[in-house]
Amino acid sequence: TPTRLIRNFCIIAHIDHGKSTLADQFLLKSGAVSQRDIKAQTLDSMDLERERGITIRMHPVTIFFDHKGEKFELNLIDTPGHVDFNYEVSRSLAACEGAILLVDAFQGVQAQTVANGFLAMEAQLKLVPTLNKIDLPHARPEFVIGEMEQAMLVEDPDEVMKVSARAGLGIEELMGAVIDRVPAPSGAPAEPLKALIYNSHFDTYKGVVVYIRMIDGNLKPGQRIKLMRAGREYVVTEMGQFRPEPTKIDELGAGQVGYFTANIKTIDDVGIGDTVTDAFNPTAEPLAGYKEPKPMVYSGLYPVNNNEFEDLREALQKLKLNDSSFSYVPEVSDGLGFGFRCGFLGMLHREIIQQRLERDSELNLVQTAPNVTYEIKKQNGEVVQVHGPQDVPDGGGIDEFREPIVKISFLIPSTNIGGLMTMCTERRGTFVRTEYLSPQRVILVFEMPLAEVIYDLYDKLKSFTHGYGTMDYEVVGYRAADLVRMDILVHGNRVDALSIIVHRSNADRRGRKVLERLRKEISRHMFEVALQAAIGGKIIARETIAAMKKDVTAKCYGGDISRKRKLWNKQAEGKKRMKAIGQVEVPQEAFLAVLEDD
Ligand code: GTP
Repeated sequence: TPTRLIRNFCIIAHIDHGKSTLADQFLLKSGAVSQRDIKAQTLDSMDLERERGITIRMHPVTIFFDHKGEKFELNLIDTPGHVDFNYEVSRSLAACEGAILLVDAFQGVQAQTVANGFLAMEAQLKLVPTLNKIDLPHARPEFVIGEMEQAMLVEDPDEVMKVSARAGLGIEELMGAVIDRVPAPSGAPAEPLKALIYNSHFDTYKGVVVYIRMIDGNLKPGQRIKLMRAGREYVVTEMGQFRPEPTKIDELGAGQVGYFTANIKTIDDVGIGDTVTDAFNPTAEPLAGYKEPKPMVYSGLYPVNNNEFEDLREALQKLKLNDSSFSYVPEVSDGLGFGFRCGFLGMLHREIIQQRLERDSELNLVQTAPNVTYEIKKQNGEVVQVHGPQDVPDGGGIDEFREPIVKISFLIPSTNIGGLMTMCTERRGTFVRTEYLSPQRVILVFEMPLAEVIYDLYDKLKSFTHGYGTMDYEVVGYRAADLVRMDILVHGNRVDALSIIVHRSNADRRGRKVLERLRKEISRHMFEVALQAAIGGKIIARETIAAMKKDVTAKCYGGDISRKRKLWNKQAEGKKRMKAIGQVEVPQEAFLAVLEDD
């Protein structure tokens, strides 16, 4: 396809505004798939994404569409909607010249609409503002267009396209608008090969499948290519496009989007953002590339049985093959034995990885409380990264203890301003600014420690705004704070897996909460068990578990045998997930006690 007939675009939208449904309609209207084939959103191909109904990874798709007597090639690059995966949004933007900015005609502009809309504008993409769900009886297009104008996402209200992705209304018109408004790629077919790697996945038979956006030149099977940053050379074995099934083609030209394979056996050779060029006729300058996504949340992952450590390592290795944003290093804990400290992009990412591990391997795992990455400036001037409480030096010597700070935007009904202010102040947030989209809806911006955001801020926001509040955040830097490591002692033994890093002003309350939880989770023993919280050797809270009375089934009032059996089974089940701390048996749930906050 000549470049003038190519359009590369993505859809950016807040979660649930209908991105996947719209993408399906594009496939349907262009004849790439039949209604029958669209089972559960073709583009959301990962099972877990489908289960949760959210898009995480980018799935490119190439469709062909006749417009004004010519056949156009449209490359749609999907973008994720969840804030954990924001870096993937910037990646897709770099491969496109335009973006459909999709907004739910009832819900209106949301935090991610604004955030991603601005990202796209910064990347110089042509926006095609579009209202979705106009079939809804309570849709309010005029009001939402007003919000889009107020948020500076739309200049001319007449430019806003209106569709119903579910009912298939206005789809051809929207495809036409994409072709008319989004510029064709500006690549030069005669120049040496230059292509951007924007994603990859590992295939057991073919090796790494590299997703590329062609900039200049062309690519053919048998061509010797060079990955510029990695400095590795390979011979291309196969190439193609996702239509939406991987479809072999014999050439990729300037401006096109597709994939190639080259018997690449290690995924680490393929850097996302790296430039592919011809080994014999290389391009002068590599492309700018991407910022690496940095893990923001860390937690320990331990097999319940120590002899499953190697199995866990293997499972993690496999996972890492298709998810380079996930990281792990071995660590040892007195209480939990051998395990790994794992880095995730956020809490959703962490949950997804845990689920995938549990599903793909038969491992029984204990996961420790999540924490953000801190920085410690020692008195000798050295600055170290702290990925967990165990990295905090024991005996002082700390000059500054720093934590990551985020700029967080909330889009809420104006009636909820008071509630939001209280929540943010309680979480050490500082107010930055307010901006009204309409008398009813307002954007509030705060700066806040990331540690205060990751656990349950989103749930809190959803509950007090009755589902209408949305948020988006980005890390803006590190700031010194009065942080301490709080240790938990079970029967006199420090359980390093239960240590947490907290702000000193919260230590008392958090300590008490953890001990209360622990007391409920740990069963009685033959002896009295003391639970203590301590900072730097100083005890700040204490709870006691009284010694056991004899019969465990005594709790089961009456002689209901099936009930007793249930209890026994439950205990047997629980046994597998117990850890011995000194002489005390601690169930896996107890290690999550430190997660509870109010
Ligand atoms: P993420 O992948 O999580 O970012 O969500 P998404 O933006 O892909 O949303 P999705 O396509 O999964 O749609 C979310 C919900 O809105 C689904 O229940 C759709 O059936 C529904 N929906 C999508 N488009 C329309 C529409 O035009 N009209 C109506 N009434 N519902 C729609």
